[in-house]
Amino acid sequence: MDIDGAAALVTGGASGLGEATARRLAAAGARVAVLDMNLDAAEAVAAEIGGLAAACDVSSAEGAEAALAAATQAHGPARIAVNCAGIAESRMMINRDGPMPLDEHRRVIEVHLIGTYNICRLAAAAMCELPPLDDGERGVIVNTSSIAGLDGSPGAISYVAAKAGIAAMTHPMAWELGRHGIRVMTIAPGVFETPMALGLREDYIERMRQEIPFPKRFGEPAEFAGLVETIVTTPMLNAEVIRLDAGLRMTS
Ligand SMILES: NC(=O)c1ccc[n+]([C@@H]2O[C@H](COP(=O)([O-])OP(=O)(O)OC[C@H]3O[C@@H](n4cnc5c(N)ncnc54)[C@H](O)[C@@H]3O)[C@@H](O)[C@H]2O)c1
Repeated sequence: MDIDGAAALVTGGASGLGEATARRLAAAGARVAVLDMNLDAAEAVAAEIGGLAAACDVSSAEGAEAALAAATQAHGPARIAVNCAGIAESRMMINRDGPMPLDEHRRVIEVHLIGTYNICRLAAAAMCELPPLDDGERGVIVNTSSIAGLDGSPGAISYVAAKAGIAAMTHPMAWELGRHGIRVMTIAPGVFETPMALGLREDYIERMRQEIPFPKRFGEPAEFAGLVETIVTTPMLNAEVIRLDAGLRMTS
């Protein structure tokens, strides 16, 4: 799909991978709506890229509907939807304070798994109403999993479960939406230099860095955004989960 002139939604677009994606899509000519819980930061990004900012908790049906309605009113229905909103897991399931409060587990699942599904269902429904492009394509959805979800990384059970779920949704969602000319892809990043990753424990981060085969560094958000651009512009990429991790495996 040609990005130039298309309307795009980026959740979590106020920071990190989402921000880099919003900037990349805008630079390629998209009209970008930056959807984020953090409205101030979303507005700052939107102002720089000539886009629209909308406050949005992706886990809320009504909140997401309102944000997508605002984006559609400003830019028309989006042909590109990128899910990057996310939160880190705060603690182990059992620690010296006792068991993880169930609401904390629920929140991680809600933001990642339910939030991704929520935006997908609304964005896809709007894409279905659009006329197909010359090659029959109506839209592209890119979701963000994590290699933690694919490898079963120890130490973040709720996050791993949510990210595994996002990866698992890829093929059935692409299958269902294929008849409407909508592709669905998922990126599973390794460790990227964003506020979320850099907020993790320093010794854990350093151990991860040592275990990366090559290049022995964390990813730049712009590299994630570059893969989003490639996915959007490459029609044969569909129904797949792509690891973007320099060979890192999070098995221990
Ligand atoms: N950075 C990494 O190393 C890494 C690795 C694997 C996967 N990921 C995933 O990539 C995505 C982006 O992470 P990041 O590193 O850019 O983090 P980040 O903290 O820089 O950005 C996340 C953004 O999501 C927003 N957000 C949080 N909860 C939200 C909600 N309920 N509704 C809407 N917006 C919400 C935050 O306000 C923030 O702007 C996340 O899903 C994360 O799990 C990141």
